Amino acid sequence: MVRTMIKTRTTEFPACLVEKRDIVEKHIDGCLPKADQYPQTLHAAIRYSVMAGGKRLRPLLAIAAFEACDGKGEVIYPAAAALELVHTYSLIHDDLPCMDDDAMRRGKPTLHRKYGEAVALLAGDALHDLAFSLMARTGSAQAVLELAEAIGTGGMLAGQMADMEAEGTQVTEDDVTFIHIHKTGKLVRGSVRIGAILAGASAETLEAISQYGDRIGLAFQIVDDILDVEGDARMLGKSVGSDTRNLKATFPRVMGLGRSKEKAKQLIEEAVEIITPAVPHPDCFVELARFIGGRQT
Ligand code: IPE
Ligand code: IPE
Ligand code: MG
Ligand code: MG
Ligand code: MG
Repeated sequence: MVRTMIKTRTTEFPACLVEKRDIVEKHIDGCLPKADQYPQTLHAAIRYSVMAGGKRLRPLLAIAAFEACDGKGEVIYPAAAALELVHTYSLIHDDLPCMDDDAMRRGKPTLHRKYGEAVALLAGDALHDLAFSLMARTGSAQAVLELAEAIGTGGMLAGQMADMEAEGTQVTEDDVTFIHIHKTGKLVRGSVRIGAILAGASAETLEAISQYGDRIGLAFQIVDDILDVEGDARMLGKSVGSDTRNLKATFPRVMGLGRSKEKAKQLIEEAVEIITPAVPHPDCFVELARFIGGRQT
């Protein structure tokens, strides 16, 4: 295969997805319980976290996969919203004092700082439940199963558990790769797979999409680690230095900043090379991969 020169550093949000992001926002807003509906505090708390912004990358990855595979119709939207709700649940719980103990998220005080730990715990639980009811609305049992597997004890939870257990210990590149593939990569992989499944992609296309998802998912978390060291807290909307404070297993810790950047770049290049010949419309997927590699937020 010819190795193409790939521009990996761009902070531009993919133009192909700007309009889709607005549609996703509306769908998410529409599927959340209203804040004046009982139990009001819980519903207000859910809205506080979900509607605080965020890049909406997981829904957009699912939509990009759906469209790259010639998917038609509206079925992708409840799935996209479900992915964002499950992601927001993971952020709320990740920020709790018993986990990363962080004070800022999406440019605002974390949910437990604003509403207390008990409400934050319940808001995460509620988003998890709501996400599955939305995914079920697609009518695809396979999509529901993909979501469950992406975030369960073989997926995101395995990564979060390993992340906690590794705190303050000596870790290898293999250890941190395991953590990142699971805590972040599995939901990214699941997002693109769900988009492709709902589009009716062939087994062969689904395999290429999964390989693409694995690479951008790992790259996404490596960039997250890098931004925790040298990112801008105001742009990120969350505190930097959290990993150092918590003695986390990160790529910069095991291989330094320079090699971590190289690793992320290499993964993005591989993802682009895999996806370009594999789907009918790869352009948006390519833009997304480059955005993930070069993001500052
Ligand atoms: C942050 O995810 C948590 C990680 C998995 C690294 P994002 O960077 O996608 O956060 P939002 O959704 O844009 O706030
Ligand atoms: C978060 O990883 C992964 C999940 C939420 C599952 P991090 O702990 O690095 O994410 P941030 O940096 O707090 O957003
Ligand atoms: Mg964490
Ligand atoms: Mg964290
Ligand atoms: Mg982080």
